[in-house]
Amino acid sequence: MTIRPRRSVLYMPGSNARALEKARTLDADSLILDLEDAVAPDAKDLARRQICDAVTAGGYDHREVVIRINGLDTPWGLDDLAAAVKAKPDAILVPKVSKASDIFTVTGHMGHAGHDIKLWAMMETPLGMLNAAEIAATASGQGALLTAFVMGTNDLAKETGARLENNRIGMLAWLSTCVAAACAHGLAILDGVYNDFRDEAGLEAECLHGRDLGMDGKTLIHPGQIGAANRIFAPDEAEVAAAREIIAAFELPENAGKGAINLNGRMVERMHADMAAKTVALAEAIEGRE
Ligand code: COA
Ligand code: MG
Repeated sequence: MTIRPRRSVLYMPGSNARALEKARTLDADSLILDLEDAVAPDAKDLARRQICDAVTAGGYDHREVVIRINGLDTPWGLDDLAAAVKAKPDAILVPKVSKASDIFTVTGHMGHAGHDIKLWAMMETPLGMLNAAEIAATASGQGALLTAFVMGTNDLAKETGARLENNRIGMLAWLSTCVAAACAHGLAILDGVYNDFRDEAGLEAECLHGRDLGMDGKTLIHPGQIGAANRIFAPDEAEVAAAREIIAAFELPENAGKGAINLNGRMVERMHADMAAKTVALAEAIEGRE
C-alpha cells in the first residue's frame, strides 16, 4: 500500500517571489502556488510568470507542487490554465467548483499535454456543497484527473454567513458531506485554512478537529503552521505500535480463520487490520520522505 502524506499543504501568493523560493526548504508535504485569491488583479500576469518559472526550474524535491488557477469565468483563467499545463506541476487546483461539468470543462481545455497532471477541486460554494457527490464522482470515469478536494472555508463563510468560530459548527454538515463524497471516490480531502496564524493553540485545536472529521491534512497560509499540521495529521508512536500489534495478531496461525478476535480485552475485526495497514503505510511514507 502506498500513501502520499498530505498533512501540511501550504498556500503562497504567486506574486511573492521570496515565498516561492523559500518553499523549496520548508517541511510542507504539498505546496499550492496561488494565482487566485492571494494575488491582486494588477499582479496576475507577474504571478503567472513567476509561478511557471519556479515550477519549470524545479527543486521542490519530495514536495508536491500544485498551481491554483483563477476560475475560467475570469479574465485570467484560460491563460492560467494554459501556462500551468505547460509548467507541468503535480496538480492544478480549480477554484469554486460547483458542479461536475466544471471539472469536465477544465479537463477539456487541458488537452493531451495535460493528461498526467492531476486536478484538485476547491469545495467552497453553496452549490458545490449540494453537488459534492456528483463532483467527486468525476474521479471515477476513464481519463479522470480529479484526485483531491480542498475545503475553502473562508469562501463558504462569505457565501453563507456560517462562522468559522465555535468549532465550525455551522460548517460541520458540509465538511462531513465532502469527506464522505471524497472517500466514496478515492479522493484525498484537505481541510480549510486557519486564518489567525499567530494563534498556535487555535490552529492545533482546528487540526485535531479536522483530523477527527476524516481530513487527510490541512491547508495552511504561513510556514509557522507546518509543524503542528505535520504532527497532528501523522499517526503518533503509540498509534503505530497499536497498528502493528493488530496486524501481528491476525497473522498468528490460531487467528487465521477468524473474523473477530479479542486483543487485550477489545474486539478487533479484520477491518481494523486494514485500518492498521493504512496507519503503518502512512507512518512509513512520512519516515521515507524525511
Ligand atoms: N509561504 C511561504 N513563505 C511564507 C508564507 C507562505 N505562505 N507566508 C510567509 N512566508 C515567509 C515570508 O516571506 C517571510 O520570509 P523571510 O523572513 O524569509 O523574508 C517569513 O515567512 C515570515 O513571514 P511573516 O512576516 O511572519 O508574514 P507576513 O506578514 O510577511 O505575511 C501573510 C503574512 C498572511 C500575508 C502571508 O503569510 C501569506 O501571504 N500567506 C499566504 C496567503 C495565501 O496564499 N492565501 C490564499 C489561500 S487562503
Ligand atoms: Mg476561495
